[in-house]
Amino acid sequence: MTESRRENRVMVELIKVGRFYPPDIEALTEVSLSVSRGEMLFLTGKSGAGKTTLLRLLCKIELPDKGLVEIDGMDLGKLSRHKIQQLRRRIGMAYQDFKLLPERTVARNIALAMEVTYQKKSFIRRQTKTLLDRLGLKSKVHARTADLSRGEQQRVSIARALANNPDLILADEPTGNLDAESTCRVMELFDEHRRRGATILIATHDSSIYADTDYRVLELKDGRIVDTKENHGTTGEQE
Ligand SMILES: Nc1ncnc2c1ncn2[C@@H]1O[C@H](COP(=O)(O)OP(=O)(O)O)[C@@H](O)[C@H]1O
Ligand SMILES: [Mg+2]
Repeated sequence: MTESRRENRVMVELIKVGRFYPPDIEALTEVSLSVSRGEMLFLTGKSGAGKTTLLRLLCKIELPDKGLVEIDGMDLGKLSRHKIQQLRRRIGMAYQDFKLLPERTVARNIALAMEVTYQKKSFIRRQTKTLLDRLGLKSKVHARTADLSRGEQQRVSIARALANNPDLILADEPTGNLDAESTCRVMELFDEHRRRGATILIATHDSSIYADTDYRVLELKDGRIVDTKENHGTTGEQE
């Protein structure tokens, strides 16, 4: 990590962000939010509240109609395409609909994410094995992802998001198809990544994963932040 990055304590900053869809859907309205480096944060709220839209703005899959989105001090609206590509390599996104390559094997889906960031073959092999072991998918390494259950596909998408040890992890309903044991494995992995310094945003309506948490829980309703549960002593710990 460079000096300048280390100095920047805020990883995600949204200032009065608005996102509208025609004819009259306000997916996000005046959302302001600041997330520290090394913080884990739950973004909750009912279906349609705006959780996915918010995560998509953070990796510039979508653009805001109003307001400012900054990642690690960089205004996404002002970055060149090249800089955005560089930034995306530091972000791991686990999509709500997984976005796996159905005809490719589990191992290929995960390895591809690391090949585009030019990781060494030895790292790719080791990292794929570790993640699949940790997520209980050891026996599926050579299976086509199209042949997996939804819960297995979900875990592959999480493994892919974590593969590059990203600085920012965006997880969209990451436990939606998982049983209690797999949910626990996923949350343990997220926590380990947070401890090494990653910033993690988890969009979820699964209250079991945030009911007893010490992390910040933020509720969205109709595109607005309506409630924040503040917890202390858990942010920026690695610094
Ligand atoms: N591409 C789109 N076109 C039109 N409306 C959309 C689009 N994406 C999301 N929406 C609407 O924006 C609102 C927020 O959606 P979303 O961010 O997916 O919520 P959540 O993830 O909390 O369920 C919903 O009313 C949804 O129907
Ligand atoms: Mg969603």
